[in-house]
Amino acid sequence: MVDMTSVICQGLTLKTPVMNASGVGGFSNELHGYVNMAEMGAFVTKSLAPFETKGNPAPRVVGANAAMLNSVGLTGPGIEFWRENLLAKLVKINVPTIVSIWGRTIDDYARAAALLQGVDPIVVGVEVNVSCPNIEDKNKMFAHSVTSVGEILDATKELSLPRLIKLSPSTHLLGEILEVVDASSASGVVLTNTALGLSLDMGNLLPSLGARGGGLSGPALHQIALRAIYDSYRALPNLPIVGVGGVSNARGAIEMLAAGARVIQIGTASFVEPRVISKVIQDLPKEIEKLGFSAVSDLVGAAHRGGAAATRD
Ligand SMILES: Cc1cc2nc3c(=O)[nH]c(=O)nc-3n(C[C@H](O)[C@H](O)[C@H](O)COP(=O)(O)O)c2cc1C
Repeated sequence: MVDMTSVICQGLTLKTPVMNASGVGGFSNELHGYVNMAEMGAFVTKSLAPFETKGNPAPRVVGANAAMLNSVGLTGPGIEFWRENLLAKLVKINVPTIVSIWGRTIDDYARAAALLQGVDPIVVGVEVNVSCPNIEDKNKMFAHSVTSVGEILDATKELSLPRLIKLSPSTHLLGEILEVVDASSASGVVLTNTALGLSLDMGNLLPSLGARGGGLSGPALHQIALRAIYDSYRALPNLPIVGVGGVSNARGAIEMLAAGARVIQIGTASFVEPRVISKVIQDLPKEIEKLGFSAVSDLVGAAHRGGAAATRD
């Protein structure tokens, strides 16, 4: 029997290293018809702002080569509404919950963090999604600026819950940003959010999405996210990593864990197979055992320690 217990950081231990990716699974029990959510390591909400948001113009999703492009635009009911009306369903299912937050200004992040103080203990952590435009800095993405990420870390530091900072793969500054997170009081990073992408409609040669550009996810993102995880672990081995990007089976999950992720998330693959999270939860222990590991924690970072062969010696 493989021990699947996954410690992300102090105060955040999951029974299995598999969860959904933010934005794929809604805000509450939407996945429950397909997946027994109580079996998941944790449920991650779609990103919530301290206010209600309507999102981007349609179309918001389009298929691409080995990928999907979305410009959903962080539509949501706001944190207060979520606490009052949607959180109770997650308490009923008894699934550890990670709340993803976002904002348009640094102060929005501070307000979002403040609105989560004293929340029900089913909430075990917070993901801070910094892949959003900063209206105070020419709409430049927070995640593409070392200074902005530092300011967000500072603005959310009063949160008493573990804080995971979700970063973008579309910046050459990722290494520097990881160092800033590592030196802060944040608990870890989520690698990665979608990559910046574009698709043109071959009928009219105009952008396919209503917001023009979008976020690329799915199989085409996997190797990019894997590289970010591998490089982060190599440079900063003690910085906890949540791996996400193109995972659709146990094999993809194992790759991310071996590269250095302590847990993984599944997003786009759920659109193809809504039960994929259950399947990976079921298959993962068998596949880990085949590789000769008796605990998922031994697999984490194995690619940096001689791979599977080192474990068999
Ligand atoms: C339709 C859609 C909506 C998303 N919404 C969010 C979101 O609200 N917050 C966030 O941090 N990431 C969001 N993401 C990004 C995913 O959480 C994930 O980082 C990305 O899709 C890569 O994983 P995947 O290839 O398994 O989908 C969204 C992705 C998709 C496809």
